[in-house]
Amino acid sequence: MTDQKNSLLLAIESSCDETSVALIQNGQKILSNIVASQVKSHQRFGGVVPEVASRHHVEQITLVSRLALEEAQVTVDEIDAIAVTQGPGLVGALLVGLTAAKTLSLVWQKPLIAVNHLAGHIYATQLQTPLKFPLLALIVSGGHTELVYMAQDGSYEIIGETHDDAVGEAYDKVGRLLDLPYPAGKYLDELAQEGEETYEIPRAMIQEDNLDFSFSGMKSSVMNTVHNAQQRGEIIRSADLATSFQRAVVDVLVTKTRKAFEEYQVQQFLIVGGVAANSGIRQGMKKLISEEFPEVDLLIPPLSLCGDNAAMIGAAGHYLYTKKDFQNLGINAHPGLFLDA
Ligand code: KG4
Ligand code: ZN
Repeated sequence: MTDQKNSLLLAIESSCDETSVALIQNGQKILSNIVASQVKSHQRFGGVVPEVASRHHVEQITLVSRLALEEAQVTVDEIDAIAVTQGPGLVGALLVGLTAAKTLSLVWQKPLIAVNHLAGHIYATQLQTPLKFPLLALIVSGGHTELVYMAQDGSYEIIGETHDDAVGEAYDKVGRLLDLPYPAGKYLDELAQEGEETYEIPRAMIQEDNLDFSFSGMKSSVMNTVHNAQQRGEIIRSADLATSFQRAVVDVLVTKTRKAFEEYQVQQFLIVGGVAANSGIRQGMKKLISEEFPEVDLLIPPLSLCGDNAAMIGAAGHYLYTKKDFQNLGINAHPGLFLDA
């Protein structure tokens, strides 16, 4: 085995609706990253159906693992450890990846590393640029909205979080109301680029003296606007409504991020998770940094690494490997796993 500084990890991610396996060197270099998305299967239900997700993971995991090994062109002997998402996520979905990882760990006699999915989203950034601490990460995904302060590798302090809906969840629900396909975030973002801000959407919690968020009221405000218009027989200007919603969301995120920068001095600011693809958030944060905090480096992973994938699990797993933070085969999936546990 190579020394503890170098690692070649086989990483597995199956927490929601992507089955993914990757081979990652030293937490930085992607040798392969195969992602099988189930989006089409869930589209007709307008959301992820947990049982359907688990079944797809079972069908895909062996094939995806084989493809990842073939593409990376590595032999089993060269692999140092198996890294896998332990949580948070859907329990049935997590169990498929975890069982595959335990099996490979046992059969190949390799250590097992349990990775937090949200740590994975943060470390996705490291696949492009080395992390410099202290840093601030904004995690924005379908299930999470969190501001995380990291003083060093592997240390997570949640300094702000949503009290209700995650940003991606609010986007998906508003998008569904406007008849956009699932997952609607991307389509709502596109629509928002065509409209004008003509509807009034409240900026929830923006004035409060904390770093927390609330998106459910903003989502309800859009819903009320649509229902009231329908009752009056008025036509909704979808693009304008999308723009108004997006401006409100960006305003809140930028305001709370500014407040976080005032309280925490950091070298880097990371925007990660599926919603990091959002054009309004990207523009708003770029403006904030260039005008008010030019000393901070803004890092956003490429779109392919913003969504769920196993490369990010391999990236986060490397640090645990260097610490020899290994698990036994008795570990279980942890659907509500905390980042700062
Ligand atoms: O991180 P991710 O792939 O899965 C979770 O762990 O949740 O995030 C998926 C979420 C979905 O809610 C999707 O609608 C949203 O990211 N999303 C977007 C955009 N692209 C994806 N939301 C807003 N604007 C986008 N451009
Ligand atoms: Zn995710």
